[in-house]
Amino acid sequence: SKGTYPYYMLKEIDEQPAVLRRLVQEYINEDGTFNFDPKLIDALKEADRLYIVAAGTSYHAGLVGKPIIEQIAQIPVEVELASEFGYHMPLLSKKPFFIYLSQSGETADSRQVLVETNKRGFPSLTLTNVEASTLSREADFTLLLKAGPEIAVASTKAYTAQITVETILAQALAVAKGLPSANDLDVKHQLGLAANGIQTIVDSKDDIEQLAHEFFANTRNAFYIGRGIDYWASLEAALKLKEVSYIQAEGFAAGELKHGTISLIEEGTPVAAIITDKETASHTRGNVQEVQARGAKTLKIVSEDLAQAGDQIIIPTLETVLSPLVSIVPTQLLAYYATLQRGYNVDQPRNLAKSVTVE
Ligand code: M6R
Repeated sequence: SKGTYPYYMLKEIDEQPAVLRRLVQEYINEDGTFNFDPKLIDALKEADRLYIVAAGTSYHAGLVGKPIIEQIAQIPVEVELASEFGYHMPLLSKKPFFIYLSQSGETADSRQVLVETNKRGFPSLTLTNVEASTLSREADFTLLLKAGPEIAVASTKAYTAQITVETILAQALAVAKGLPSANDLDVKHQLGLAANGIQTIVDSKDDIEQLAHEFFANTRNAFYIGRGIDYWASLEAALKLKEVSYIQAEGFAAGELKHGTISLIEEGTPVAAIITDKETASHTRGNVQEVQARGAKTLKIVSEDLAQAGDQIIIPTLETVLSPLVSIVPTQLLAYYATLQRGYNVDQPRNLAKSVTVE
């Protein structure tokens, strides 16, 4: 039930710190070892490339999973849209391993690919929130997201749960492979910081509500921009906003704007930038100035270590590759409040179903 919450979406955004802590407890033992099926880890060790297959928000969690797994476990990862991959399968590596990300475990586009990879005898893992779901039953291995039922059509806690499980799994694989760098990143500590960080953001929801009002009122379109990991977060931020508020929102690689899309910027167009990577922060800030000079209204979501006077939303600093765990949360809240201000039912946007069981 929603309890005292007006909508499931807000409840589910608020649950994220608890979900992260639950996943750490579930998959990391007290002594720092990991609670994964050793057969799963063996199968992953044998693979020469991982293919993540998913749709929508789960696809976006896969895009973030790629640099996480590549950095921590040192194995190449490809991320594929299920609806495309089923019909346009690229040349695969010699020993592929397939990871299906799906909150519901019922997405037909993903299932269609799983049927095909099963036919070809490739090993597979499903990361899902629903035990005994179709994708879970048909894959070799399952890891549960333990996020509790996600009722709102807009996926929120499943996204952060998927990134969390990808992170822990990457670390377990790094340790199993005996990588010298396996413990460079204290994953448990980082996930603890992320949980606390999300908590501070959801505790400041009144400020974000105010910002949503100032920033998205009376607009038909909006942009989220970022580079690298912040670009992947921007794609999810834009999907969340458009899906529930019907504002036409685009997530964009900040440096690509000037190659065409900047012509859409008019007086008052909202452009939100996500800035958590110190390598590219000054470049993205430059892009913000470019759009500002063309009349855009801008909003900066910046990690603490890179914050400057005038940045509106400051988020806790994490290892860069994990930053979407926190950077996405203000964008979920912005989408939520922009929708309420427009008077729409945020839990049930038009034309959408919670799980998409047709191809
Ligand atoms: O259940 P799944 O994770 O497989 O669903 C995939 C997409 O349909 C889903 O993420 C969709 O994009 C959400 N409505 C986004 O909020």
